[in-house]
Amino acid sequence: MILHKFKNQADLDRAAADLIISTVRAKPNAVLGMATGGTPVGLYKEIVKSHQQGLVSFAQAKTFNLDEYVGLPITHPESYRAFMQRNLFDHIDINPANTHVPNGNAADVDAECRRYDEMMYEQGPVDLQLLGIGHNGHIGFNEPDTQLSRFTYKVTLKDETREANKRFFNSLDEVPTHAVTMGMGSIMQAKAILLVVKGAEKAAILDATLNGPITTQVPASLLQTHPRVIVMTDCDVEYKR
Ligand code: GLP
Repeated sequence: MILHKFKNQADLDRAAADLIISTVRAKPNAVLGMATGGTPVGLYKEIVKSHQQGLVSFAQAKTFNLDEYVGLPITHPESYRAFMQRNLFDHIDINPANTHVPNGNAADVDAECRRYDEMMYEQGPVDLQLLGIGHNGHIGFNEPDTQLSRFTYKVTLKDETREANKRFFNSLDEVPTHAVTMGMGSIMQAKAILLVVKGAEKAAILDATLNGPITTQVPASLLQTHPRVIVMTDCDVEYKR
């Protein structure tokens, strides 16, 4: 892993955006793995700015999002499809047909998971996967457990994850209890991974991710086995090799 530390979030957002932009400039039909949550909002703004300045086109790019809530209508502002439209897709020249987010409202969720995996297999591999991290070490919505899923699957969200995400809803009751997420296998298939970690309260889980044992109880620790992971953070952490 390569660790890049930043003094402020504005510099971090710019650097993360630049890595994504340079990936697409080098390969216009790049496949990008996208993430949601509070973390990527600023870097998406930087990408939009650069696009508006004519510095990057996404006309040939494809995207696959990590995850989506189950049972939240896509018209709900906190659905990950709505998040992506609002923060990125509506402001760049990407072909809407090339933006993929799992369908958390599919009548047959298991069939939707297989469809998503097949699409990723046919159109992938992902050139650059953007990741945030949950306080408990989840990536996508792969929650700590005794075993992790390789493929896209329906996951029961941990109480701490629903608690962390309740800030986006009116109350905890409104936070969905389940989500569809790319499995660890799909995430690890990406040619390169950009993990963005912001805020002092994530320093401990980032330290565990970088330096702790590789364990299913900290899903992000599996990234230690990936050959090309870039971590960008404003946390005060060291990478102890
Ligand atoms: C969410 C998402 C993750 C995200 C994480 C952290 O629920 N499923 O993809 O990385 O939790 O979110 P935030 O960036 O808001 O701290």
